[in-house]
Amino acid sequence: MALTELKIKVERVGESAVSKVDWENLAFGKVFTDHMLMMDYADGSWQEPQVLPFQDIPMHPAMSSIHYGQAIFEGLKAYRHPNGKVSIFRPDMNAKRFNESAERMCMPQVPEDLFVELVRKLVEVDQAWVSSLEGHSLYIRPYMFATDHWVGIKPSETYKFMILLSPVGTYYSELVRVKIEPHYTRAARGGVGRAKAAGNYGASLYPAKFAQDQGYHQLVWTDAKEHKFIEESGTMNILFVIDDVLITPSEEEDTILRGVTKRSIIELAQHWGIKVEERKISVEEVINAAKSGRLQDAFGAGTAATLAQIALIGHEGTDYHLPPVETRTVSNRLKAYLSGLKIGQSDDIFNWNYFV
Ligand code: COI
Repeated sequence: MALTELKIKVERVGESAVSKVDWENLAFGKVFTDHMLMMDYADGSWQEPQVLPFQDIPMHPAMSSIHYGQAIFEGLKAYRHPNGKVSIFRPDMNAKRFNESAERMCMPQVPEDLFVELVRKLVEVDQAWVSSLEGHSLYIRPYMFATDHWVGIKPSETYKFMILLSPVGTYYSELVRVKIEPHYTRAARGGVGRAKAAGNYGASLYPAKFAQDQGYHQLVWTDAKEHKFIEESGTMNILFVIDDVLITPSEEEDTILRGVTKRSIIELAQHWGIKVEERKISVEEVINAAKSGRLQDAFGAGTAATLAQIALIGHEGTDYHLPPVETRTVSNRLKAYLSGLKIGQSDDIFNWNYFV
């Protein structure tokens, strides 16, 4: 479907529920806007997209995605600027990554310009839900799942692409406590770690629960083979500052998600003249740096939290505390720029804001 031929059918709700939102007490991802977007894939092509009142969707008991996990998703956010305008942060990057995930999971491609236009359209319809309160945004969740009615194992021939929207506040209200995982793994080489596949998140819950029972927020995932190298943290990419160098695990390993926030951080840091290294980083290197006081900063990067500064790293029964947050020049500067940019208060040097 060429974008010039694109018609999006819009069926609006009679009355918006936006006035009923308890904005001060938003739990992440529990409140949804008035509308959702749905587009079916059948006979080798995408059918007419529709914006519909938010509602349950009928499901066949043999729907293949709930049996074999052909399901992928994205996460991005829209922000309200003081002049009333609404922007979405780098939706083209999510469109690209969505298709990389789709390819790995044997699912159809959604043309990038179509993906961006569908996101834009739904946000436009529900723009009253983009709050101007500090730290608030509209979380956008595009997703695709297999819908064949068949328990045979092969790629489905039919799919649903959907988008839902959820107004959200700050993801973490405190600095994050993480623990290096010595046994379980998020992704193995040759697996689906690079894809934003639903099953990656399901598989992470069991090990994450042990860490949470011990008082940590998240795990730091290590490589599947030896658990010697750092990969990600919880649902985020992870970055460290050691001896004034910003270091993050290299994306060459197909176990690591190509984070949009992480890529933005790297581009910004390089623009500011900060030395960046994307390479293998061992647990030993991080722990030695922490012991010798050279670990200046550590933080997670993801859409939900944007940039989550780490308070401490647990390893083999010891908690290594990071320096006070006021001294973290790199993450503080990045955080201030990114939060300012999304509401029009930082200069958009790279044109990352996409206006609705
Ligand atoms: C993100 O922060 O990018 C995520 O994917 C978080 C989501 C699983 C809630």
